[in-house]
Amino acid sequence: MEQEIQSFHLKIDSTNRGGVFFSGKKEDVIQFAIHTKFASRVNLQLIHDNAETYEEFYTKATELPWEKYIGPNVSFRIDAETKDKLKNSEFTMHRMKDAILDRLRAKKVPLPEIEKRMADITIVVRSHTDRFSIELSLSGDPVGRRGYRLHAGSAPVREPIAQAMLEMSDWKEGETLVDPMCGSGTVLIEAALRERLYGEINRFLFAESPVFQILFPTYVFSERKKEKPSKPHLFGYDIDVEAIRIAKENAYEAGVEDFVHFEVGNCLTLKNSFGPKGHLVTNPPYGDRIGKPMEDLREMYFQFGRVLKNEFGGWKFTVLCADFSLLGKFGLKENKHISLKHANLKAKIVDYELRGGK
Ligand SMILES: C[S@@+](CC[C@H](N)C(=O)[O-])C[C@H]1O[C@@H](n2cnc3c(N)ncnc32)[C@H](O)[C@@H]1O
Repeated sequence: MEQEIQSFHLKIDSTNRGGVFFSGKKEDVIQFAIHTKFASRVNLQLIHDNAETYEEFYTKATELPWEKYIGPNVSFRIDAETKDKLKNSEFTMHRMKDAILDRLRAKKVPLPEIEKRMADITIVVRSHTDRFSIELSLSGDPVGRRGYRLHAGSAPVREPIAQAMLEMSDWKEGETLVDPMCGSGTVLIEAALRERLYGEINRFLFAESPVFQILFPTYVFSERKKEKPSKPHLFGYDIDVEAIRIAKENAYEAGVEDFVHFEVGNCLTLKNSFGPKGHLVTNPPYGDRIGKPMEDLREMYFQFGRVLKNEFGGWKFTVLCADFSLLGKFGLKENKHISLKHANLKAKIVDYELRGGK
């Protein structure tokens, strides 16, 4: 995440469990927001201040120019992650809402809608000790939820994690990519978005975000879209017919249905008809989430390891897994790994170089 931020010439001010705080030029922030692969949310901090009491918080919140951000035709919602002096998140949310509406009334601005779930504008309040911050989500919905997922399938990876898997594998646009247990297709759809939108994977989300338009009214979004590739090079297989149906639907929703070939198939009988070099990137089933008997899973990992060695010498293999004992069953030598949290479990993305090949 930090490397990605710095690659857009932004300066990291601090990092904590709440996120990475950075500052920089408006143009660089825009480019970061549109391109970010790994951020779950991109928020603008409006205030970071002290409040000993809810009343002090309310007073400071009313001083912000809400009329600049919230017009009559938009809806807003508030998320509060508060503790210590503003311990009661529910009450903090109420005071935040009062502060916004009172400010808008005082400025004689028609009042907006307040939503609990989907809203045009999301305001985030956080507090820790006697400090609080109020942030505005630049994308409305979290940027890491790119919005194409109508159906999730049985255990999908989150979009930023799928991007991290691609990064670990060092996959580049145009190279062959196969997900042999693709589920709802997230890894391949994320790769296809990079190709189709020339890396601007969040372009559509921000183009529709009222906050983005208010903050950057003169920014003109590119309309560049890559045409269907002449040679297919993104392939997804899953043993489950329903998973493949969902993957195709999600790809269509993301506008990349011409970029990915999805097909029902068993990874244990997969043949390499793709070529001497490529990237296998996948998230196989593992105990806690899918609920297959462990013995079956061990055998499956072992058998798939054999497929990799026999068919895919010379390729790269990258896998996300939360059961580290299963990884040993592949019988492969690890190249590198990163640790992360996935579905509230400790997980790893592990990268292997498959020996052999021409
Ligand atoms: C953890 S899920 C993958 C989730 C996927 N990354 C997503 O974002 O939706 C694992 C998938 O492996 C599939 N699977 C299990 N055994 C398989 C096999 N032998 N061949 C192909 N797919 C298999 C399951 O049907 C399931 O969809």
